[in-house]
Amino acid sequence: MRIPLRALLRKKTDIKAGEKDLPQHIAIVMDGNGRWAKKRGLPRTAGHHAGMEALKRIVGAAGEIGIKVLTVYAFSTENWRRPQPEVEFLMRLPNEYLKTELAELNKNNIKLRFMGEMEGLPVHTRQAVTQALAETAGNTGMILNFALNYGSRAELVSAVRQIARQASDGLLRAEEIDDAAIEKYLYTAGLPDPDLFIRPSGESRLSNFLLWQVAYTELWFSDVYWPDFDKTHLLEAIDAYQNRDRRYGGIKL
Ligand code: IPE
Ligand code: IPE
Ligand code: MG
Repeated sequence: MRIPLRALLRKKTDIKAGEKDLPQHIAIVMDGNGRWAKKRGLPRTAGHHAGMEALKRIVGAAGEIGIKVLTVYAFSTENWRRPQPEVEFLMRLPNEYLKTELAELNKNNIKLRFMGEMEGLPVHTRQAVTQALAETAGNTGMILNFALNYGSRAELVSAVRQIARQASDGLLRAEEIDDAAIEKYLYTAGLPDPDLFIRPSGESRLSNFLLWQVAYTELWFSDVYWPDFDKTHLLEAIDAYQNRDRRYGGIKL
């Protein structure tokens, strides 16, 4: 049964979970913080702070709607190219987010997952993330998958290297390398592919996010800057998703 989202948009509190056409896994590029701030004459860091507030809202909303996995792109392997003060601010945000939200995540049975090159992070960021992973490890509800220092190409390179090692050690034959064998070495191992990809801020590109995993994902773009993104926008995206026809290369008989 289809969740009556148009009705939900009018009556947002009446959200039912577990409906059949609900995307299981939603991936979001949290983009537009800088432009949001610029529009208001504020420093870019104010935009990042407001973006963190948006994340809190959307995690709450996704949990209420009944989403199983929410993947959020917080910092890419290319974002190190930004001025150092901005990078430093961004590296402190996970600590701040987790300090204020960890209790809430636990209360809502949300399990944190990390996706990216952990070793490249400053020690304080790594510590905050590692601790939060441990403290939510026993939770069984929605998975909040944080893409931090994440790049899809780096992820694929790492997977290929691990597979090559297995092969050169004689543990894997070339014929045994298939989709499943590759997926085993991705950061998303064990997670379903995203059903719905959301990118706010008016940009229509993937920016090195989940290149393998979005092969058959439904893409949804919005002009809203991430700090302004709220439950209504999430519901709009889900509504659009529910009106798509996913064929996976086949045809409807
Ligand atoms: C997203 O917002 C946050 C990160 C990429 C870390 P941006 O900082 O990219 O904001 P814009 O795209 O410049 O507006
Ligand atoms: C993508 O946004 C990365 C994150 C939101 C974390 P960017 O702002 O870095 O992407 P580009 O530069 O517009 O492609
Ligand atoms: Mg951007």
